[in-house]
Amino acid sequence: MFYRIFYAQPELPWSENAVATLIAGAWTGPPGCASFVLFDTIGALRFVKSGNSILSRYGTTVFEVMSQLARAHDSINLGQGFPDDRGPADVLDVAARALLDDSNQYAPMMGMPALRQAVAHHAARFYGLTVDPATEVMVTSGGTEALAACFFGLIEPGDEVVLFEPAYDSYLPIILRAGGIPRRVTLSPPDWSFNESDLAAAFSPRTKLLVLNNPLNPAAKVFSTEELALIASFLRRFDAYAVCDEVYEHLVFDGRQHIPLMTLPGMRERTLRIGSAGKTFSLTGWKVGYVTAAPALMQPVARAHQFLTFTTPPNLQTAVAYGLGKDDGYFRDLVSTLQARRDRLAAGLAAIGWTVLPAQGSYFLVADFTPTGFAGTDHAFCHDLTVAAGVTAIPLSAFYQDPVTSRCIRFCFCKSDGLVDRAIERLGHHFGAR
Ligand SMILES: Cc1ncc(COP(=O)(O)O)c(C=O)c1O
Repeated sequence: MFYRIFYAQPELPWSENAVATLIAGAWTGPPGCASFVLFDTIGALRFVKSGNSILSRYGTTVFEVMSQLARAHDSINLGQGFPDDRGPADVLDVAARALLDDSNQYAPMMGMPALRQAVAHHAARFYGLTVDPATEVMVTSGGTEALAACFFGLIEPGDEVVLFEPAYDSYLPIILRAGGIPRRVTLSPPDWSFNESDLAAAFSPRTKLLVLNNPLNPAAKVFSTEELALIASFLRRFDAYAVCDEVYEHLVFDGRQHIPLMTLPGMRERTLRIGSAGKTFSLTGWKVGYVTAAPALMQPVARAHQFLTFTTPPNLQTAVAYGLGKDDGYFRDLVSTLQARRDRLAAGLAAIGWTVLPAQGSYFLVADFTPTGFAGTDHAFCHDLTVAAGVTAIPLSAFYQDPVTSRCIRFCFCKSDGLVDRAIERLGHHFGAR
């Protein structure tokens, strides 16, 4: 039997402190080494087989860490992206009735016909796309599972994957676990722009796919038509696919329109489009997502999905099918409500002297804390903000793989007016009192 053993650096004493740190997983050991160290009942060290080294190197996600810290300090949590309202009452009602009246057994692996039909109608209604619900739509357990199914279904070890940073935190670990080699295009505040040479540096004949999150979490950027056309030209030139994470498709502000990459010339056959009921109906706990793609692309992704979650709770699928058919007023109100919340938080932060970056879409806005005079990292700033000011945000550097010097943090504004006002009051009090 083979056991991998942690070797501490010779100068590192095996003091209780060092061992405790190892057990807590805070010290990861030599690169690529991810073993567990345990004590047996008489206190002797015992080494056990390691977990997967790629996934083990990631700690608990920053969203969970900050939410736990927020709970521990009774802080107003504007970190993790979840709304604090109940979601549309009629959608909840359909879900509740379906739970009591309909089947609660496994739904079809590709999703319930009603939801697949609704996803196809939605694509025609909002984007003029013609989608065959029988062969081109698959229901998943949230956008996250849709992403994992796309990455596991499409990536061969050694394939290159182009992605924009800052990036949603689930992309990179799964791409790496699938054997992909990430090629990152780094976007920086305040304008998050990129150009042709940035893409030229990232693409190669080995590029299998590009990941596009539009609107982009955490930057709140909505990609322009010109940017999308530039991306499409590279996908065509390098014969690559695009996994389009469009979970914020209905959260686009100031009269902008969401443009799926799939609608651009030559992209229909190359693109997998991912949506999420969590964002569209403010029901993030439901984890109902959907992928739309041409049959040839869908097939390998469905193979992965059948071994990941296989299916998604049927009553939630029924309710989301109903929800996607809601009238235009629902979708307009969603935008106007969130836009007003964005403006409320932005105005409050600006009033206490912070620099707020434009937020074109999503649940988030980014603020630069330089005016506060804080000299430490964005992680340290978010920690202090939670503990001392009672408001929680997410450090932007958490969305980059390599260490970056960030003076920016992400706030989530999909919260009630009262909560946003209280957060601003706390921040004003804390920084005003300094
Ligand atoms: C960019 C992005 N993609 C995917 C997801 C996950 O969506 P779901 O909750 O449907 O799994 C999120 C959730 O915050 C997100 O921000």
